[in-house]
Amino acid sequence: MRILVTGGAGFIGSNFLNLMVPRHPEHHFINLDKLTYAANLASLEAICDAPNYTFVQADIADARQVDQVFDAHDPEWVFHFAAESHVDRSILGPAAFVQTNVIGTFVLLEACRARWQGRVGRLFHHVSTDEVYGSLGDTGAFTEETRYDPSSPYSASKAASDHFARAYHRTYGLPVKVTNCSNNYGPRQFPEKLIPLMILNALEGKPLPVYGQGTNVRDWLYVEDHCEAIWLVATRGRVGETYHIGGGTEKRNLDVVHTICQLVAEETGRDPDSLRALITYVADRPGHDFRYAMDTTKIRRELGWEPRESFETGLRKTVRWYLNHRAWVEQVRSGEYARWLERNYAGREAHGKDAGR
Ligand code: NAD
Ligand code: TYD
Repeated sequence: MRILVTGGAGFIGSNFLNLMVPRHPEHHFINLDKLTYAANLASLEAICDAPNYTFVQADIADARQVDQVFDAHDPEWVFHFAAESHVDRSILGPAAFVQTNVIGTFVLLEACRARWQGRVGRLFHHVSTDEVYGSLGDTGAFTEETRYDPSSPYSASKAASDHFARAYHRTYGLPVKVTNCSNNYGPRQFPEKLIPLMILNALEGKPLPVYGQGTNVRDWLYVEDHCEAIWLVATRGRVGETYHIGGGTEKRNLDVVHTICQLVAEETGRDPDSLRALITYVADRPGHDFRYAMDTTKIRRELGWEPRESFETGLRKTVRWYLNHRAWVEQVRSGEYARWLERNYAGREAHGKDAGR
C-alpha cells in the first residue's frame, strides 16, 4: 500500500514513521510535512534512506500542493497527524490553527473525496485529541459519546477538523476513522510542551514554570503506545467509528514536575532538592482546562489494545533520550523557535509569565 502520513516530521508523526517504516517494508510511506518550527528532519534520520520512505515538503492548507502530492503518489491510506499543536501558541496567534487544522484538514478530505469514489481499500485516519471535550471536574472520564466543548483556539480548531472528518464519512461515504488521544510524551517532542520543557530546564538549571497552582490534571500516554493504537485502529477498527486512546495515567502537573526533578537528579547525579527549588509558579493559562481523562473501554474491548509503558518507565526513557540528544534539541531550538520566543516573550520576565523559558 501507498500510505500518506501528514506531519511526519513532528513529534508523534516521526515516532509513528520510525516504528512503521522498518516494520512494514511491504508498504510505501510518503511523509508530507510543511516543516514548521515544530518539525525536525533529524527525527527521521534512522529511516530517511529507507527504500519504502519518501519525504515531500508541502502545506496541507495549499490545495495545489496537496493535489500534486496525491497525483504523484496516489495514496490508498492517509494518516493525518499534521497540525498546529500547542495550546499556548493558539492563544497568542489562533490564525495558523484555523489555517492548518481546519482548512488543511478540509483540503485533505477534498483531495480524498475527489479521487476515492468507487475505489476500495482506502482509509482516512484522522488523529485527534481529548481536548475537544473541554474540561472535567474531579471525577469522570470522556467517552466517545461525550459532547464537544473545546476551550482553546487549538481545541476548537481540532474539534472543527473532527467534525469535518466525520461529516465526510456521513455525507460522502469517505472511509474515515477518528482517534482521540490524551497527552503524549516521549522522545522527539518539541520542548515547548510541559514534559520536555521541564526536563531541559532542569538540566540547564533554569526555572521550571508551573501554571497556576500546578493542580491541573492530564492523562499521560507514552508516544509509541499511541502510535501502536493508531495502527491497530487503522488495520482492525471499524470504518466511521471513533476510538479513544489514553494512558489511564492521571497526574497533577506539579507531581509530573517533581518526578522529572527526581529522574533528572538520578540520571545526572545532582541533588533533587536543588532541582525542585527551580519550580516557579507563574500566571495561569487563560481558559486552562482543569482535568482530562479518557475512557478507553471501547478500544480495549473491541481491539484488545493496552498501553505497554508505565508512566515511570516511559518518563525515565524520555529523560534519558533528552540527555543523549542535545544536538537534536539545539537544532529545534534554533531558527524559527528562537525568533518566536523573542517576538512573544521578550521583556516579559518582569511579570514572571515566562520566567522559565
Ligand atoms: P507537532 O507540533 O510536534 O508536529 C506537527 C507537525 O505537523 C510538524 O512536523 C509540522 O511541520 C507539521 N505541520 C504543521 N502545519 C502543517 C501544514 N500546514 N502542512 C503540513 N505539515 C504541517 O504535533 P504532535 O504533537 O506530533 O501532534 C500530531 C497530531 O496529534 C496533531 O494532530 C495533534 O492534534 C494530535 N495529538 C497530539 C497530542 C500530544 O500530546 N502531542 C495528543 C493527542 C493528539
Ligand atoms: P502542554 O504540554 O502544553 O499540553 P496541553 O496544554 O495540550 O495539555 O501542557 C500540559 C499541562 O502543563 C497543562 O495543564 C499546562 C501545564 N504547563 C505548565 O504548567 N507549564 C508549562 O510551561 C507548560 C508548557 C504547560
